Amino acid sequence: MTSIPTRQLGDLTVSAQGLGCMGMSHGYGASDDAESIATIHRALDLGVTLLDTSDFYGAGHNEELVGRAVADRRDRAVIATKFGFANKLGEPTAIRGDAAYVRQACDASLRRLGVDHIDLYYQHRVDPDVPIEETVGAMAELVAAGKVRHLGLSEASAATIRRAHAVHPIAALQSEWSLWTRDLEEEIAPVCRELGIGIVPFSPLGRGFLTGRYTSVEGMAETDVRRTQPRFADGNLERNLAIVDKLTELAAEKGVTAGQLALAWVQHRGADVVPIPGTRREKYLRENVAAVAIGLSADDLAAIDAVAPADAVAGTRYDASSLSFVNR
Ligand SMILES: NC(=O)c1ccc[n+]([C@@H]2O[C@H](COP(=O)([O-])OP(=O)(O)OC[C@H]3O[C@@H](n4cnc5c(N)ncnc54)[C@H](OP(=O)(O)O)[C@@H]3O)[C@@H](O)[C@H]2O)c1
Repeated sequence: MTSIPTRQLGDLTVSAQGLGCMGMSHGYGASDDAESIATIHRALDLGVTLLDTSDFYGAGHNEELVGRAVADRRDRAVIATKFGFANKLGEPTAIRGDAAYVRQACDASLRRLGVDHIDLYYQHRVDPDVPIEETVGAMAELVAAGKVRHLGLSEASAATIRRAHAVHPIAALQSEWSLWTRDLEEEIAPVCRELGIGIVPFSPLGRGFLTGRYTSVEGMAETDVRRTQPRFADGNLERNLAIVDKLTELAAEKGVTAGQLALAWVQHRGADVVPIPGTRREKYLRENVAAVAIGLSADDLAAIDAVAPADAVAGTRYDASSLSFVNR
């Protein structure tokens, strides 16, 4: 067993990089449970403690999978899960954040995970019809009941974060942050910093695109969510590939992979930042974890910014429907 450095998400101590488990059940085509569980075990052995799941991923399958993986090593894992999508994948999106739903969702997640507490419980998307005070009030009751240890929000606006934090300390904000998605830098990250809230960037590899592995959606499963994402669409994809090509060249000069350079860039956003790259495979996990140790100088960071400027990215990060559920 090895270890990697730790970072703080509020009062919660986690490994400096977590493991996104979503793809093991959802979004990126068929998976092999045995391979996924072996990847989670390897992550824990490498010192990755933070495992990220949600009740939405695979309609509960992902929580059950994570629960099975940690059953005999619960004390080594920091389990983060989420509630808020009350629909199943393929059904119209239905966000719920009312108190009764929060209580019911938490009990269901605890059951699927097979644990007596969740270390970090996030609201996956803010419910526009329920005051955040009601949602976080219900989440705070879960803390008082010992079912949950720390609270988080995902894709919440700066104003919502402030209101939520006034009800109960928020340990972490999980939102998309990578070389090609920098929306939170202007307003949201500064508020997190002011309030002592850690930041957990999701999709730090641009859903795999920044590794250079994907040059087309051909070969992806019909259900792969990337087929509906504008950045992977014809026209945009070619322009975005030009960025990845330059990133790959720069990475080669440093003797690392493009994915590692993209992860190291996220890791260098601050000591309160804990990216959660997703993978189902031990070989990618090892490569990603190794990125924690990559040091980048100010010149390196400037060179990365120069080859991957935010305004060069073609296409929005989600389609219009998914974007409408991001709290503003
Ligand atoms: N809060 C939210 O709304 C939200 C939204 C999206 C995701 N998330 C969380 O964030 C986590 C990470 O995001 P993500 O999975 O969407 O995107 P990501 O981490 O940017 O990329 C994942 C993709 O990259 C591939 N990959 C990973 N490491 C690689 C490597 N070293 N070389 C080549 N390919 C590699 C994976 O392939 P394989 O699967 O084949 O290994 C997968 O297709 C998710 O697992 C989930 O827990 C949260």
